Amino acid sequence: MRYKSCKYIQHGIAFRHDAVSICNKLCGTKRYEKFNIPYEGDFYQKYIDVRNEAIENCKKGILPHEGCFSCPYAEEKDWDEDYKFKEIEITHWVHCNCFCCYCAMLPVTEGKITKSKQNSPYVELLPVIKRMLKDNMIAPDAFFSITGGELTMLKEFPAIMKLLLKQKNANYGFCLQTNGIIYEKLLSKALERDRRTTIVISIDAGSREMFKKIKHVDKYNDVLNNIKHYLKDAKVNKDHIIAKYIIVPNINDSEEEIDKWIETCKELGVITLQPSIEFCSQVVNPGTFKQSQGELYRYMKEQIIANGFKMITYDFLEEIIKNESFDITLK
Ligand SMILES: C[S@@+](CC[C@H](N)C(=O)[O-])C[C@H]1O[C@@H](n2cnc3c(N)ncnc32)[C@H](O)[C@@H]1O
Ligand code: SF4
Ligand code: SF4
Repeated sequence: MRYKSCKYIQHGIAFRHDAVSICNKLCGTKRYEKFNIPYEGDFYQKYIDVRNEAIENCKKGILPHEGCFSCPYAEEKDWDEDYKFKEIEITHWVHCNCFCCYCAMLPVTEGKITKSKQNSPYVELLPVIKRMLKDNMIAPDAFFSITGGELTMLKEFPAIMKLLLKQKNANYGFCLQTNGIIYEKLLSKALERDRRTTIVISIDAGSREMFKKIKHVDKYNDVLNNIKHYLKDAKVNKDHIIAKYIIVPNINDSEEEIDKWIETCKELGVITLQPSIEFCSQVVNPGTFKQSQGELYRYMKEQIIANGFKMITYDFLEEIIKNESFDITLK
């Protein structure tokens, strides 16, 4: 049937730290409230009910929210009647073994560094994922974004990952984002299984001193060693181990530091780089966009290409730079 909807309404589920949510539009720390179902009672069934209602409304031409009309994910097309989950976001915990000055989760963590692995205080996800599998609600080609928080600090991460990796007749793709401080062999295992899988490691520095300034822990060398480890593990898809640099105003925003980061990545044998800018403060403190971020972002892109790396980027960053503002909240 042809109607306007989006892949998240039709096939998405996002386990966020405080609620399970339909709308997956990247919008800093906020999402459309009506779709945030708190982790209480049978929240999974509630989620299914709310989503079914949203799909029925889309069929009648009623999108869930006025923000949907300008959302790049909204599209009119023939949607199939199979509502299995294909876009699954797992970010239901916030714990981390470092404290990045730019972390989107800062309003929740308040910079607290966690030393031991923990589960989310709100929900244990393993039973929910088991239920989804039992109900045959996960599409065989589903894509999981596992970000967090820091996945190596989530106690139930290995159990969830092992369960997903052992499913027969399924080939799941993963976007796995880690700070790289702790090595996790399951990431390498996931990389082998599906060409869509990426391991993204935000280094954000080209030196130990700068790393400490950004992350508040002295683990630069561990991160470099772990990147080497992942690259060595990778028999296939080596180019899917991605090193990232987020330009943070007044901290690592210098050509010199970017050059050092590029040089280090070259020495490590990294193939793909991701340039980025700090964008959540644009939500927390609108109007603080710094022009140097835009100039340096373009410098970084040029250098990445000039040095023969592959590159991935977020499309919306050029838009932010062009407008010198960042408004991704859903009004
Ligand atoms: C919240 S982090 C969690 C995953 C993991 N701990 C990490 O840092 O890679 C998810 C991704 O968002 C990025 N990120 C976090 N805060 C950001 C911000 N304020 N601006 C731009 N990117 C940000 C991180 O670099 C990371 O790639
Ligand atoms: S805002 Fe975009 S992603 Fe969110 S529900 Fe609407 S169309 Fe989908
Ligand atoms: S490593 Fe990730 S989760 Fe941890 S503080 Fe940095 S951005 Fe946040």
